Amino acid sequence: MCYKKCAEQLSASKPLQFYRLESPQIFLKHCSCRRYRKACWIFACISDFSPVTVSTMSWLLLSLLAVSSYFLWHGISLVKLYLQARKTGWPVLVAPVPQEALWWLVGSVPLRHVFARLLPKPLYYRINMTIYGWEFKARYEPFESIGSKTFMLTNCSVNVLMIADPDLSMDVLKRVKDFERLELGNKVLGVFGSNLLACDHENWTRQRRVIAPALNERISDVVFKESCRQASEMLQYFTSRGGVTDATLQGLKDIAIHVLAAAGYGLSSPWKEEKRPPKPGYKLTYIEAVESVIDNIVAAAMLPAWVFLMPFLPSNLRRIGYAKREFPAHTQETLAEERLRAATRTETQSNLMSMLVKIADDGKQDPADKKSRVSKTLSEEEIMGNLFVFTSAGFDTTANTMAYAVTMLAAYPQWQDWIVEEIDEVLQGKGREVEYTETYPKLVRCLALMVSLFACNDCHSLNMTS
Ligand code: HEM
Repeated sequence: MCYKKCAEQLSASKPLQFYRLESPQIFLKHCSCRRYRKACWIFACISDFSPVTVSTMSWLLLSLLAVSSYFLWHGISLVKLYLQARKTGWPVLVAPVPQEALWWLVGSVPLRHVFARLLPKPLYYRINMTIYGWEFKARYEPFESIGSKTFMLTNCSVNVLMIADPDLSMDVLKRVKDFERLELGNKVLGVFGSNLLACDHENWTRQRRVIAPALNERISDVVFKESCRQASEMLQYFTSRGGVTDATLQGLKDIAIHVLAAAGYGLSSPWKEEKRPPKPGYKLTYIEAVESVIDNIVAAAMLPAWVFLMPFLPSNLRRIGYAKREFPAHTQETLAEERLRAATRTETQSNLMSMLVKIADDGKQDPADKKSRVSKTLSEEEIMGNLFVFTSAGFDTTANTMAYAVTMLAAYPQWQDWIVEEIDEVLQGKGREVEYTETYPKLVRCLALMVSLFACNDCHSLNMTS
């Protein structure tokens, strides 16, 4: 091999202890002969070296080489992506960081405030847009300062098309084949298996066809009843304390997760839940596992459970590890229990898990050929992935929307009066005993209020594929 030849030549001219360079040799054997010779020459120039010095120096040099190659590689990608982005004709903003690199994904969120303090403003402004959750802080401001509702954000990993134009957003969202989701998004949302929000177009069509019948009015009925029950329990709790509280937002989060647990898995819990012990053999309950993964979704998706479970880590990080390890076990156990129950009853329960299991199992028994059976069913992994994504996609979205609505109502009390007028008229003192089909369609003002909140959320970021 060429590196051996170099070694022989060099050791003939200067007695180097090459056996000490074993690791660099292994590393450098993939380099060209000239590069290797150069590296050896650098070592040879170190006078009075001891074997240990050579080894330490070589490691230092190699680390330096590895780090500079890494940055060089990202630099080249940045230039390539920038040239591609220029061709679109939209304004281009360059953020010189690798948005999809694991170290950036995990490290950038806690370091955001450090960047904000230390980096020059124009640089921080660009880099911020590659950090998870930037939209909630910067909102429309980047579009305003660029003076365009659409621009390209070029970073070292990917070109991202940023859109703040509702019509264009709708068009892009509809053209799922032309505009794929970010690879990263698929990885994060597909942490427990392929699902509606994390799969290719062909699989999406099949999963959508199989799942659509499960999202029916029976589920909406459960959602409505459970929401009313949870909300009145929260109200009772707050009024019993004189109506003064700082726990409204947490209370709304609890409503969201309890309603999802009821609609998703048929699990009913009181709003003010006593802390229940997990099942034997588990560290967390099912809901605790889901909540913990959702709260730390990026880190949980990118790192394996054992990393979080290392004994020297703090308990909050270990909790993510338990959650990631236990969620699949919990789901499989719950699915097995559901199949046992389903075998002894005639009617399907009104929850998503029960319906998905029924649809998937019926599809498997279809007498048609294998290809047709596959198109009518979901694999166990897809059931698990979809159950997780329904809980995660429904949790923060609804909890934050309710929190936003309550905050806006507090700031603009005249709209509270407008809403209360409608509720009083529709409910007419019926209290909790309200029927979904009869009541919900009449709550037009409530619906208008919630829908109007979405007008503020018209900014989407998508991966550009064409
Ligand atoms: C205020 C509440 C919500 C908002 C603002 C919201 C927003 C969105 C948006 C923008 C998408 C499209 C994403 C894309 O195509 O890339 C989406 C899709 C989705 N959402 Fe929601 N969502 C909300 C509530 C929920 C709830 C409660 C659930 C489930 C319980 C849910 C489950 C899903 C699913 C499964 C998809 C994928 C649909 C598909 O690809 O066919 N969402 N949501």
